[in-house]
Amino acid sequence: MNSVILLGTLGALYLFIIVSVPVKAPEHVKVVEEAPVTEVTKTEEAEAPGAETGVHEVATTEVNIERGRTLFMSNCISCHNKDPNIKGAIGPELIDAPLEVMTVKVVTGRYPEVLPAGFVPKRKTKQMRKFPNLEKDVPSIHAWIQSVRK
Ligand code: HEC
Repeated sequence: MNSVILLGTLGALYLFIIVSVPVKAPEHVKVVEEAPVTEVTKTEEAEAPGAETGVHEVATTEVNIERGRTLFMSNCISCHNKDPNIKGAIGPELIDAPLEVMTVKVVTGRYPEVLPAGFVPKRKTKQMRKFPNLEKDVPSIHAWIQSVRK
């Protein structure tokens, strides 16, 4: 009899612990599916800046300088110099390109149609290939380049 009570108590305790310790999702994971009240989800989204423009997703991808360096070394130095301060075999130095120019260049292979004030393209050629899959990594690549500026 005693053991039945003991088991029951332990069982209840176990359940209590399971129910009372909240399982926290990692911050970047949106707990949309699990939220029973859609109102809560909507409020959260409305508060997140840029949630509807897709900017939100890019903003949650942290700038990672080491990753930027790795991606640069594996994708860009066949044409650009390992040292982005100087020109490479085919591509010019990259140190002066603002992030917005670099983003368009990497995604489309072309310079933006409207250039930022004060920026002069280094070359008039159209030899660069595009890397659309690297779009969200351009801020990391750009940050690494600026981190080795001389
Ligand atoms: C196939 C060779 C090639 C590869 C690979 C390449 N580029 Fe280029 N890049 C060029 C050339 C050539 C130019 C000069 C303009 C042109 O011809 O497109 C250029 C220009 C640029 C510019 C403009 C610089 C300025 O100040 O005018 C940026 C920014 C740039 N590249 C970034 C990158 C990044 C980042 C990568 C790697 C993800 C990369 N490029 C890979 C050849 C390349």
